Amino acid sequence: MSNTENLSVIILAAGKGTRMNSSIPKVLHELAGKPLLRQVVDVAKSLNPRKICVVYGHGGEMVPKALDDDDALQFVLQEPQLGTGHAVQMAMPCLDGKGRTLVLYGDVPLIKPDTLHHLLESGAGLSLLTMELENPHGYGRIVRNDDGDIVGIVEEKDATEAQRGIREVNTGVLVCPTAQLKSWLSELKNENAQKEYYLTDIVGIAASEGEMIHSASPGRQWEVMGVNDKIQLAELERVFQMERAVELMRSGTSLADPSRFDLRGSLSCGRDVIIDVNCLFEGSVKLGSKVKIGANSVLKNVEVMDGAEIAPFCHIEDAVIGQNCRIGPYARIRPGTQLGEGVHIGNFVEVKNSRIAEKSKANHLSYVGDATVGKNVNIGAGTITCNYDGANKHRTIIEDDAFIGSDTQLIAPVTVGKGATIGAGSTIVRNTPEGGLTLSRAKQVHIEYWKRPVKKKD
Ligand code: UD1
Ligand code: CA
Repeated sequence: MSNTENLSVIILAAGKGTRMNSSIPKVLHELAGKPLLRQVVDVAKSLNPRKICVVYGHGGEMVPKALDDDDALQFVLQEPQLGTGHAVQMAMPCLDGKGRTLVLYGDVPLIKPDTLHHLLESGAGLSLLTMELENPHGYGRIVRNDDGDIVGIVEEKDATEAQRGIREVNTGVLVCPTAQLKSWLSELKNENAQKEYYLTDIVGIAASEGEMIHSASPGRQWEVMGVNDKIQLAELERVFQMERAVELMRSGTSLADPSRFDLRGSLSCGRDVIIDVNCLFEGSVKLGSKVKIGANSVLKNVEVMDGAEIAPFCHIEDAVIGQNCRIGPYARIRPGTQLGEGVHIGNFVEVKNSRIAEKSKANHLSYVGDATVGKNVNIGAGTITCNYDGANKHRTIIEDDAFIGSDTQLIAPVTVGKGATIGAGSTIVRNTPEGGLTLSRAKQVHIEYWKRPVKKKD
């Protein structure tokens, strides 16, 4: 059955999220660096639906604004919020009455496409995602007749003592033919403990019309766990991260501690990659084979080629690190950096928007910005490219085999010729020729009878 054909998705996201204690709407809080609602939208998209309609309310325009880069979404305001049934009703004009409609929740971020496929395949009519819980407290209970057929859902607050004993609960996720959903919603009443229009009441209505109601269950409980406060948010973040860590380890990556691993984007690893504790990967990160990432490093939109080692405490962003490079500890590699094979960047070195060709080294305390550095260049400790004149940025070019003595300032724009040696402590303001020694340093003098000042007595 091509079960996602003609599918529409409604995502409920109007709730207040009081317990988040925040001025940001609940569904915009982030999990793995992405708003909860975006996580759900991405899952919905994986089903290739014809429409995705997001029902928002609390937080007002902040919700559609946060996702306004996404043309696939339609937004509907639910104001006031009169219950889940009312919320779905608000979305109905978005849909054209065809096919089936799946209801998801903006604060239930970890639902898996597999589980949704399972639900979509469980029947052609109304299907509910349900699960058995040891402690069903707070959930709507699934009511079945003696034949085991679903005949309704009763909310905790409206349940009888006997019904509260039911352990099969409603996760809230359901799928239903759109035309029937429309007609059942029109029959909802708010005569219940919360004076709300319950979406769950369509189940009793459908059953009374003789409809067969199917159900499916999520693979894991956490797939249907909602976020109501920061504690639940942190719990689901850990679940998500452990899932990613396990995937990586299964495919051969070594993680020193999977519980101290964080991914906020995508990470691909070659063979025999080793990642130490407390590393954070953001955006798109590609690690080649035999790459080692030291503890407490942050990599964002980075490609690290085979055999490179990143020592602890490095921060690397929008950069390419060549094969067998040695970086850090305590290095900062900023956007636009490309390092060739075997480059060494040591402690407290900052590199920005620079190309450094193979086997060149900057091992200690340097700033290399807007520079083009050739092969086999040695950049001594404390060397700084003075790339900014207060208004504009200028390039520094250091040609192959140059040796830059420690504590040199290169006042850009400037070129150091091939094989040139720059004496330590120089301020280089003009291009230097190839080879030879260039230095700009005041002659050393010695004053033999000089006396240190002494402190005045009063
Ligand atoms: C709902 C279900 C319950 C189920 C539980 C699972 C109903 C009546 N009950 O209860 O059977 O066990 O979820 O968590 O559906 N929302 C809106 N607009 C509204 C009301 C809610 O968008 O007017 C959204 C909320 O933002 C939230 C979701 O719908 O994401 C669920 O609403 P909530 O009030 O938390 O429902 P529950 O009482 O938990
Ligand atoms: Ca809830």
